[in-house]
Amino acid sequence: MTPFSIYKIYFSPTGTTKKIVDTIGDELSRLFAIKIKTYDFTPPSHRQSFPEISPEDIVVFGLPTYAGRLPNLLLNYLDTINGNSAFAIPVVTFGNRAYDNALVELRNLLEQHDFMTIGAGAFSCEHSFSYTLAAGRPDERDIAFAKDFASKMHAKILKININEHVHTAIHVDGDALSGYYQPQTNSGVKIDIRKVKPKTSSACIKCGLCAESCPMGSISFVDFSQVTGICIKCGACVKKCPTHAKYFDDEGYLYHKTELEKKYMRRAENKIFI
Ligand SMILES: Cc1cc2nc3c(=O)[nH]c(=O)nc-3n(C[C@H](O)[C@H](O)[C@H](O)COP(=O)(O)O)c2cc1C
Ligand code: SF4
Ligand code: SF4
Repeated sequence: MTPFSIYKIYFSPTGTTKKIVDTIGDELSRLFAIKIKTYDFTPPSHRQSFPEISPEDIVVFGLPTYAGRLPNLLLNYLDTINGNSAFAIPVVTFGNRAYDNALVELRNLLEQHDFMTIGAGAFSCEHSFSYTLAAGRPDERDIAFAKDFASKMHAKILKININEHVHTAIHVDGDALSGYYQPQTNSGVKIDIRKVKPKTSSACIKCGLCAESCPMGSISFVDFSQVTGICIKCGACVKKCPTHAKYFDDEGYLYHKTELEKKYMRRAENKIFI
């Protein structure tokens, strides 16, 4: 089949998921020579609605892994989406530790919301908490890998006869029934960072970029140092601040970040399912 449109749909506070979804979507659009449409649901205002997808569209749908699963505060929104029988390619990113059960969760979620999943991928990217964990990824190798994945998906889609298609969800790894990854100290004490919020130093120039970038709408536009709502530790305000004025100083957060940086120095591989 030749799709009607290609969609790139993603949530991406620090921009790595966007880069992977862009690469796959843009390459598919080039190979099919059809226009690409984008829906970025990172800003809170974009989680009030969802685009109207047609049955012959292909959707590249990307989310980051948080605690080995999908970001749980997005689940209410994700429960409202509708694929209208379109084909989908679920994509998760992860910060060089593991994607654990995020990909199977996304595959299942899309299937439950009337998407037909035909391929999937997990990509290791720079960790939201860190500048050294998978630093700079996706890099050239990852981008080449993502383009090759798109070209394999292109070949697969061309072979689909929409009238004879009998759908089975794409096989991916992971355990859909498993819980969230729990950070802990070396002596086994659980680290709870759920209530942790970023601080602001005197380097702040009051540009407002952090408030504009917060996917939870939690940074005050009146006083940019105030986090008035829920913080999901997505790292957007820290990484986007032009003067490095935003930072986390919570002991548990810093311990967990340092442990991740020490334990997961190896290059985690990307994985695709076709
Ligand atoms: C709260 C939180 C939890 C995370 N949990 C994991 C994890 O379990 N495994 C992992 O490898 N990376 C984890 N990450 C890292 C992100 O999945 C990774 O950096 C991703 O590329 C960020 O995507 P973005 O750039 O689109 O925001 C976590 C990040 C955050 C903010
Ligand atoms: S992005 Fe940085 S400099 Fe700009 S308002 Fe926020 S903390 Fe201040
Ligand atoms: S305040 Fe929390 S949720 Fe908002 S951008 Fe910063 S880290 Fe992300």
